[in-house]
Amino acid sequence: MTITQTNNTQSPISNHQSLFLSACKRDPVDTTPVWFMRQAGRYMPEYRAIREKYSLIEICHHPEIAAEVTLQPVRALGVDAAILFADILLPAIPLGVGLEFAKGEGPILQNPVRTLADVKNLRPVNPETDLSYVMDAIKILRGELKDNVPLIGFCGAPFTVASYMIEGGSSREFLKTKTMMYSDPQTWHALMEKLTVVLTDYLVAQIRAGAQAVQVFDSWVGALSPQDYQNFVLPYSQKIIQAAKAEQVPVIHFGTNTTTLLPLMKEAGSDVIGLDWRIPLDDGWKILGGDVAVQGNLDPALLFAPLPEIKKYTHDILRRANGKPGHIFNLGHGILQNTPVDTVKAVVDMVHEYRQ
Ligand code: CP3
Repeated sequence: MTITQTNNTQSPISNHQSLFLSACKRDPVDTTPVWFMRQAGRYMPEYRAIREKYSLIEICHHPEIAAEVTLQPVRALGVDAAILFADILLPAIPLGVGLEFAKGEGPILQNPVRTLADVKNLRPVNPETDLSYVMDAIKILRGELKDNVPLIGFCGAPFTVASYMIEGGSSREFLKTKTMMYSDPQTWHALMEKLTVVLTDYLVAQIRAGAQAVQVFDSWVGALSPQDYQNFVLPYSQKIIQAAKAEQVPVIHFGTNTTTLLPLMKEAGSDVIGLDWRIPLDDGWKILGGDVAVQGNLDPALLFAPLPEIKKYTHDILRRANGKPGHIFNLGHGILQNTPVDTVKAVVDMVHEYRQ
């Protein structure tokens, strides 16, 4: 198969400090680092060209194509970090739940998990072998990326992954998920325990393959009250985060609608916490306290607004960060389909050019 060759004109081995890794550690930087969740994807013509030939899962299964797609936004936008091209649902495949992406419908998991017997039927997963294609993509990327653009690995958090496995796909109300939590806690905890082991092993394998930071995506956890988060989710997310931190890389913990969950997410112990646009950055940071870095938090819908409006909002976020060490600029959630690429690039430049 032929794919576009990478044109890395500069040496991959240089001594440039990474703004992104420095900010994760809350070291002072002169320029705020920026990257975007879902920075690779359908809004980019280069990605759509590859998607004409390969399905999403095929891209993930071919490390050299996954690496190429990972590099597309790095080249086009000048972001300060690369995020591995993969999906939080890939571990569902070796678990035996099945995974398919139906056109326009999002993910479909063919064998949803609803009973204790279903949990017991989940297959053991060895990420080094069962998800070796992810580790291979990471190894290719570490050879291609310059030192000042670190590679972020990721996994879904147990709650968000469990919600897809229980619902069988995307959901608004998470009714089946919550019904299991409230009506059959034994099955819920058994599923969370199993997922925690698999996701921990998967994240650690990514770090050992070369990921220089990792993000744990708990995208939908804001559907829970603080009390339920504490009882049904926190201990599991905490375990994954602690295991990744023990590998000596920065850990980012992300969710949306988490305003009331922030103090508990802090207890989970990551180095960086993602904030969405529903809370002003400084208010979120105040709740979290000064001993953690923050990532965010422009509304992805703003990328459809005129540039002067975007600039107002972008500068507002940077003003709220107030030059305090430990801010990584990002959106509050992933880039939306049809976002104009030029606008995304303009935001990168706005962030890089901003001075307090
Ligand atoms: O950020 C990146 O550039 C890396 C790639 C990435 C993908 N998925 C590729 C992808 C990452 C980090 C993810 C994470 C992911 N996947 C999350 C957590 C982040 C978030 O957005 O909340 C979730 C919930 C998923 C599950 C998932 N995968 C859904 C719900 C969908 C369908 C959404 C849609 O737009 O149809 C996917 C598909 C998916 N994963 C795409 C991409 C680029 C869609 C593009 C395609 O079909 O080619």
